[in-house]
Amino acid sequence: MTVTSNRVAVLHGVNFDILDRRDPEVYGGLSLSELERRIGGWARELGLEPIFFQTNSEGEFVEYLHRLPDLADASLVNAGAWTHYSRAIADALDVARLPAVEVHLSDVESREAWRGVSVFDGLVLAKISGKGPDGYREALELLARELGAGA
Ligand code: DQA
Repeated sequence: MTVTSNRVAVLHGVNFDILDRRDPEVYGGLSLSELERRIGGWARELGLEPIFFQTNSEGEFVEYLHRLPDLADASLVNAGAWTHYSRAIADALDVARLPAVEVHLSDVESREAWRGVSVFDGLVLAKISGKGPDGYREALELLARELGAGA
């Protein structure tokens, strides 16, 4: 039986529209559309329905989180640099009250100290970082188990 609560919003924040122009040593040289294509494939294999969103505007990100309960059953969030300081985004994610996983392509713990800080601490099921695109697959597996998708 496939459950209907299988919609996962995959949210990317600031500077992800130019992912392929960022340091390939750190971010792998992938474009956002290629990353989303891979995430989409993994999600569907797991019985999940992915919904993609990216913005460079913090206000738009917050407003999307306000609408999240109507759009999705869970979320996978890579908010980029906002992760490290946007209490507004953290508050909005808290209000959404959906299972969420935080993902980072790079290993935020082994970079500058400020990247080790996350406003999502205590709000997410897990924080996965430093595994490149595979980290998204791990996050999707976790959310699929949480939602009971494809069971
Ligand atoms: C990132 C890590 C952040 O520190 C950085 O600001 C990003 C990308 C990552 O996926 O590794 O924009 O979230």
